[in-house]
Order: sequence, then structure tokens, then C-alpha cells
Amino acid sequence: MRYLCLNGPNLNRLGKREPTIYGSETLLDIEAKLKNLAAQYNAEIECKQSNYEGQLIDWIYEAEDSGVNGIIFNPGAYTHTSVALRDAIAGVEVPVVEVHISNVHKREEFRHHSYLAPVCVGQITGLGTFGYQAALRMFLEAERGE
Ligand code: DQA
Repeated sequence: MRYLCLNGPNLNRLGKREPTIYGSETLLDIEAKLKNLAAQYNAEIECKQSNYEGQLIDWIYEAEDSGVNGIIFNPGAYTHTSVALRDAIAGVEVPVVEVHISNVHKREEFRHHSYLAPVCVGQITGLGTFGYQAALRMFLEAERGE
């Protein structure tokens, strides 16, 4: 089984960016934990980050075309703005889980709405960086039939 972890804008700055909200872990730390978890299930995970909306859209279609089994996606601020990303997710069969490190519902009103959540399997928000692992675990366990 092959999975993709996609991170959107500003998430390359994790560890340095607003640590009181997003914590001290870097994206590399998060990705290392995901790779470890995938390996425990004999699965693979590829991790990509971009600050560009179109690049994220291209990667979603590439994932679909190359037979990726699930996408863990933190779209960052595009969550709250991007009809284009929503259309991309709606247009593929590969299941996508939306992940946010912070609890978007506790924050500014503009973060409460997600264009993407209605076309995703589900949304994980506010569990810190563990949210990525929770999403991956969901895919891995579902595959095992647990
Ligand atoms: C975020 C929440 C978004 O509102 C914000 O724009 C981000 C990060 C999170 O992981 O908590 O960039 O997706």
C-alpha cells in the first residue's frame, strides 16, 4: 500500500512558525514519524509540501493516476479559500483526509469553514502533529480490516 502526505502553504516553516500554535516539531520530524508508522505496516508513504495551489492540485492527480491508496492532506490556509483544491479532491477516487495541527474551530471565524471537508473522508483538527499519524493509522488499519 502506498500513501501520500501533502502539506500546503507555510507548513515548511513548522518548528519556527508560531510555535505557540503549531508546536516545535518540524515537518521533517512529522514525516519521519509517518515513515516509521508506515514501515510497521509494510506500507510506504511519500511526503510532499508546496506553497503553491496548482502544484498541490497536480500532485493530487498524480497520486490518483499512480494508484496511491490514500492522501493525508494539510492544506493550510487553502482549506478556507480554495474551490480549485476542492474540485480536484472531488474529481479523484483516492480518499483524502484533511488534517489540521491546530483546532481551527477554536480560532478566528474565517478558519471555521473548510471548502475541502465535504469532499474528504473526514477532518482531523486540534490533535497537534499527532493528527497526521491518526489519519495514516486510519488508512492502515482499514486496510488490515481492523
Ligand atoms: C492549519 C490551520 C490553517 O487555518 C492555517 O492557515 C495553517 C495551518 C493547521 O494545521 O492548523 O496554515 O492548517
